[in-house]
Amino acid sequence: MPPRPLTQLTLALLKPDLTANSTKVNKVFSHIQQNDFNIVAHKTLLWSKSDAETFYGEHRGKFFFERLCGYMTSGHFHALILEKPDAITDWRALIGPTHPPRARINAPDTLRSLYGMTDTRNSFHGSDAVDTATKEIGFFFPEFDIEKWVKDQRNNKK
Ligand code: PPS
Repeated sequence: MPPRPLTQLTLALLKPDLTANSTKVNKVFSHIQQNDFNIVAHKTLLWSKSDAETFYGEHRGKFFFERLCGYMTSGHFHALILEKPDAITDWRALIGPTHPPRARINAPDTLRSLYGMTDTRNSFHGSDAVDTATKEIGFFFPEFDIEKWVKDQRNNKK
């Protein structure tokens, strides 16, 4: 049997506008399965203003910061740890460009094209690199031992 490729974790958010629509949420979970992601952990959250401002702290001062934090505190949302080889790039490719109107022109098969509403209500988040994924997984799932998970993966490969 060919060796199993090294797998990877990423942090995915299904944002409040999407979470408010259970039909869309179910469809998105089907996309996640069809694209071979495993859901390693999953929780539903409701953020305070301070939670949003902490998570999006690097964007403080940008014109969209207040709007983004207001949106992310407007309702419940899903946080997921997704796993597969190349999970970080694959999830970002699946969700598509940040701005849904542009996604509908340039990347019509992506989730933001299919389900995103506006530049703010763009329905999804995905970590953009390994170190960001580690940090974001720790933010949402402090109880998840990522180092142990990586070690177990390496041991399973032997
Ligand atoms: S930047 O400036 O290039 O760093 O911005 P970007 O990486 O594209 O986006 C950072 C997060 O801000 C959200 N965003 C916006 N929210 C509201 N309005 C506007 N115009 C807007 N532009 C970007 C974007 O969705 C990113 O959040 P996440 O949760 O990572 O998707």
